[in-house]
Amino acid sequence: YGDPSQKIDYVFKVVLIGDSAVGKSQILARFSRNEFSLDSKATIGVEFQTRTLVIEHKSVKAQIWDTAGQERYRAVTSAYYRGAVGAMLVYDITKRQTFDHIPRWLEELRGHADKNIVIILLGNKSDLENQREVTTEDAKEFAQKEGLFFLETSALEATNVETAFMTVLTEIF
Ligand code: GTP
Ligand code: MG
Repeated sequence: YGDPSQKIDYVFKVVLIGDSAVGKSQILARFSRNEFSLDSKATIGVEFQTRTLVIEHKSVKAQIWDTAGQERYRAVTSAYYRGAVGAMLVYDITKRQTFDHIPRWLEELRGHADKNIVIILLGNKSDLENQREVTTEDAKEFAQKEGLFFLETSALEATNVETAFMTVLTEIF
């Protein structure tokens, strides 16, 4: 996961947003440390992790910011979005409400972030297919209408997590 002595060509800030318990922190844990925990605690305030990758022969340090989905634990919104070049908008495929809230998150994002920010919509917990409440088609249609990239992920099974980050980072690049 990156040689620390390596010189850095670019630093890209990417923010994670979405309702509480959709799996934002575990998506980040999977991407930054290849770890996953089933008893993950709700995030309080803001945390971030970095991982350095090579994209088109340049070393890119991805600085991924993670905040609380719960309003009462959220930090100052404008500071969170400042300088972000990518955003991951996460819902839980087994909780319809988390998908229904996506337009609100998108509105907050568009209100605070740079207008050229690259956005990907992620339907997480794809391993829980038998509990699915949001169809892939509904999400795909929404993403298309709003001009967002879209993927279904599983932080638990490590499905599409790497692809999701690479999609955003490559597009920023
Ligand atoms: P806040 O910090 O409160 O905003 O929540 P969060 O979005 O960071 O959620 P978190 O990553 O803490 O995950 C919430 C719960 O969902 C934890 O019990 C995780 O283990 C679980 N979880 C996260 N990703 C997955 C996944 O892909 N599959 C399954 N089955 N469970 C997951
Ligand atoms: Mg969290």
